[in-house]
Amino acid sequence: MSQSYETLLLDRRERVALITINRPDKRNALNIKTREEGAALLEEVVVVITGAGDRAFIAGADIAEFAGRTAISQRDVMTARSLFTAFDTFPKPVIAMINGYCLGGGCELALACDIRVASENASFGQPEINLGIIPGGGGTQRLTRLVGEGKAMELILTGDIIDAKTAFAIGLVNHVFPADQLEAKTMEMAKRIADKGPIALKLAKEAVKIASRSLLDEGLRREVDLFALCFSTEDKDEGVKAFLEKRKPTFKGR
Ligand code: COA
Repeated sequence: MSQSYETLLLDRRERVALITINRPDKRNALNIKTREEGAALLEEVVVVITGAGDRAFIAGADIAEFAGRTAISQRDVMTARSLFTAFDTFPKPVIAMINGYCLGGGCELALACDIRVASENASFGQPEINLGIIPGGGGTQRLTRLVGEGKAMELILTGDIIDAKTAFAIGLVNHVFPADQLEAKTMEMAKRIADKGPIALKLAKEAVKIASRSLLDEGLRREVDLFALCFSTEDKDEGVKAFLEKRKPTFKGR
């Protein structure tokens, strides 16, 4: 089923929602409408987000909207209606399918996703420094946690753009595929994830996210609690039973 929004396309394929940021003439730059529509429609078991056309995933925040914006209104955009936080805290897996320019707020949105998959022609960068500003959608924090301080610092201070191969080498993306295979490979991974139990997916995501936000002892304690919580679910009974009966489990999210 395909549904159209002003700035997004939503394509539901079984339990995977493919969201396409659809402003190719603006290289899929994130304007207010995109942020609102994006935050509102995250509801499927697995979400894949991509950009329309073959040039850009997202070329960053809509720079035209920066002109004349006050400090307070810009702060509101980044906090009250944060698409980045909506993705980061979304209780289901989100995959960024990166098909071209992945810059500034686009790179930050990809960083707020759980898994990043790129085509060979994708490119990455935090070029905010060239506008006299710094990343404000989590770039200084999530990029640093993902690739380490040295690489993050270089990208943020130089504003340099790197290619997909380099992004893979520094751990910014999980996989790089030829452009014509990107969608098939990404959807295949999304469907494999969507076959798992929704509660286990949610708890696994929560547990992994705790790792970069807490000290080890606290993280380990919270992992045990979340692990034990799985034992209250029908999905755990079904998973164990199916293994013992040598069949595929059918998870119901209960
Ligand atoms: N915000 C607003 N508009 C943007 C945009 C952005 N982040 N990125 C691209 N666009 C617009 C351009 O202004 C242009 O609009 P126009 O046709 O009305 O003039 C259109 O998209 C096409 O851009 P163009 O530069 O001609 O395409 P390109 O393929 O040659 O280059 C980029 C693509 C992404 C390299 C280049 O547009 C760019 O550097 N964009 C800004 C990236 C950036 O600094 N992002 C961080 C923002 S915080």
